[in-house]
Amino acid sequence: MNAIAEDVIVEPAVPDRAVASPVAAVRDGRDRPLRDLRLSVIDQCNFRCTYCMPREVFDEHYRFLRASERISFDEMMKIAHAFVALGVEKIRITGGEPLLRRGLETLIERLARMTTLKGKPLDIALTTNGSLLGARARGLRDAGLSRVTVSLDALDDAVFRRMSDVDLPVARILDGIEQAQAVGLAPVKVNTVIERGVNDHQILPLVRHFKGSEIALRFIEFMDVGGAAGWSNSTVLKARDIRAIVEKEFPLIAADHADSGATSVNYRHADGKGTVGFIASVSEPFCGECSRARVSADGQLYTCLFATQGADLKPWLGEAVPGEQLMDAIHARWNARDDRYSELNADRRRAGTGKTWPTVRMSLVGG
Ligand code: GTP
Ligand code: 5AD
Ligand code: SF4
Ligand code: SF4
Repeated sequence: MNAIAEDVIVEPAVPDRAVASPVAAVRDGRDRPLRDLRLSVIDQCNFRCTYCMPREVFDEHYRFLRASERISFDEMMKIAHAFVALGVEKIRITGGEPLLRRGLETLIERLARMTTLKGKPLDIALTTNGSLLGARARGLRDAGLSRVTVSLDALDDAVFRRMSDVDLPVARILDGIEQAQAVGLAPVKVNTVIERGVNDHQILPLVRHFKGSEIALRFIEFMDVGGAAGWSNSTVLKARDIRAIVEKEFPLIAADHADSGATSVNYRHADGKGTVGFIASVSEPFCGECSRARVSADGQLYTCLFATQGADLKPWLGEAVPGEQLMDAIHARWNARDDRYSELNADRRRAGTGKTWPTVRMSLVGG
């Protein structure tokens, strides 16, 4: 595991509070609302998934953000308040591996005290690789976390080790999932990235394992996002082909519509408890309804997972700067947003022109 520098956690002198009164619905250049904030708290991870942080690149010389370059919890709270005042109802904490950020529970406690513009509690979700979840699940729940999503690409130890390039057994991740479920961090979701020829034979074992439980298993198409080593068209197993594999053994029925803007299309087992979802980011992009903003651990706002550049929010994060100015900056950036990378890339592939630009690293901007 990488050495993680200490963060000094300072409690705010004044209670966290909203920065402004409600504003008219915030829409981007394609009339998409801003509903979902994905906040990355650290760019480091104790795994080296080949599709995200290949060890050849993320080695001992790789320059991760230093602790002093990462924004503080106070700054994150200012950002959270601004986004919530602009209509955000869901905050997902991402990384890297967010549980490596020291004192994360303190941030969650503070987020959990916030309410949405509709007066409801914020939906606070966490994306994790699950390795540290078993020990932390209860504390996270007590801090006010609503739910977790755990990444798990295989049930077979050898395949899991090969893909995540970490010396841990699958049992450790399954224990994290069980603890999360036991303390009520529900719904617990499991995300599985499928790489053709690497873990497609794990599809059925995973479905078998989670069938009959309350855990929502979701298969994700392998994307050509920054850092994805070895990506090519032929490594993508399309969501509809993954579903066909599942349906050979497990009949599925379409579940009720998820929220507009959702990433996954969900199905229920026809003969029992459990759901299986499919995230077709490559073959059937969902940019049309995308309401997700991302903020990296160094305070850059990205309006697309595939963006090449973020907008630096740090100038607005100082204590002396009124929160309304931060809101105005975010509002202006969202208004100017025109991103639809996955759709454009699908068009390009159809036209045979392939991928044309490098994107920001997934481990920096959060998945
Ligand atoms: P819920 O709040 O539970 O609905 O989470 P979510 O599905 O919005 O987020 P999650 O992090 O679970 O997303 C699962 C995976 O879908 C990510 O790891 C990405 O691979 C992919 N994904 C999520 N959001 C986007 C997006 O905006 N664009 C693209 N292309 N892929 C995305
Ligand atoms: N393709 C699809 N999903 C990816 N993730 C990371 N890299 C990729 C990629 N190349 C997602 C996975 C993982 C989460 C942290 O990020 O869903 O579970
Ligand atoms: Fe870490 Fe998640 Fe990236 Fe794997 S996919 S290297 S667990 S951040
Ligand atoms: Fe949203 Fe960009 Fe993903 Fe499209 S590619 S769904 S615009 S984040």
